[in-house]
Amino acid sequence: MNINLVTSNSGKVEELSSILEPFGHSASQLNVECPEIQTSTLEEVVDFGLDWLASKNVQTPLIIDDAGVFVEALKNFPGVYSRYVYDTIGLSGILRQMEGVDNRAATFRCVLGLILDDGSKRKFVGECKGNLIHEMKGTGGFGYDPIFVPEGYDKTFSELSSEDKNKVSHRGSAMKKLIKFLSELK
Ligand code: IMP
Repeated sequence: MNINLVTSNSGKVEELSSILEPFGHSASQLNVECPEIQTSTLEEVVDFGLDWLASKNVQTPLIIDDAGVFVEALKNFPGVYSRYVYDTIGLSGILRQMEGVDNRAATFRCVLGLILDDGSKRKFVGECKGNLIHEMKGTGGFGYDPIFVPEGYDKTFSELSSEDKNKVSHRGSAMKKLIKFLSELK
């Protein structure tokens, strides 16, 4: 199946395509500017995006992806505001907020939205628990990857190969569920 990835984020396109391709699916990037509402959950952002894309008759099947990092010591901030925080105070700002904080636990969450050719919609959720380190490390990946070490590893997402990141990441885990769902359609 060829699936349209509705995102302007090339990092997400790379990850989503590399997960889809071994399962015989291909992926194309659709650079449609899907509005992102400010609300309290990733699920609501994705529901709104799916309804908006369906109303605009954007070419299906398609996937949208909303993700964020939820930091325990910051009462789950930035969470759904991750993009705004990244674009304003950036990783150095987050690290400053975390100065002197012992509890470094953080969870990445990803919600994928899918619309099939028959118009049906589904969501798939993935999580990855880990810790924020004290400085940025690594050059791979994107966004918060340089400061996040997934549980069971001693390297940041930026230092891991994309295959290793996909094995444990929030996006990888949501994609596993989506791929299983697609395989059961046939
Ligand atoms: P959005 O899903 O594009 O709204 O992303 C929200 C913010 O989280 C952006 O700053 C992204 O760069 C960041 N982000 C989303 N997914 C990841 C990831 O897998 N690793 C690191 N940062 C991410």
